Amino acid sequence: MSDESPTRSKCEIYKTLIPQIEFLFEKETDFTANLSNSIAILKHAFSYFFWIGFYIVKEDQLVLGPFQGLPAISRIGYGLGVCGTCWKEKCTQLVPDVNEFAGHIACNSQSQSEIVLPLFAGNEVVAVLDIDGDQKNDFDEVDVCYLEQISAIFSAHWPK
Ligand code: SME
Repeated sequence: MSDESPTRSKCEIYKTLIPQIEFLFEKETDFTANLSNSIAILKHAFSYFFWIGFYIVKEDQLVLGPFQGLPAISRIGYGLGVCGTCWKEKCTQLVPDVNEFAGHIACNSQSQSEIVLPLFAGNEVVAVLDIDGDQKNDFDEVDVCYLEQISAIFSAHWPK
């Protein structure tokens, strides 16, 4: 198998997912239902997504929202862990090895890599999308590129 093959197929999968997620928001007005189905679509599209879910900004904390995977920590403080760092720095956190990230919050010892993306209402972070992999280096710039597009869909539909 060539080096490009896995990347190309990952791109193709992402390209099919984006219209599916947009379609959800066109057809259904309930935001929780749409977040939940979006997470389910993503989880089942990629076998290397060990855990995927939202943490939603509520006052001074991130609170667990719709997710797929094992039970996880319910609340994360501002600036804490990968998720709280994403909230504070307002930018995607790509973590090839969670053991190398100072302050990483381990919900499960199987999680080895992580990507966390901010969702915005205007300039304010309203939530983060958190995905864990059970292998080191599970996420790359292709994931960043497409997951940022998917996060923009969630941001655009975030309730005012
Ligand atoms: N690892 C995250 C905590 C959430 S779990 O990955 C589901 C963090 O460091 O913020």
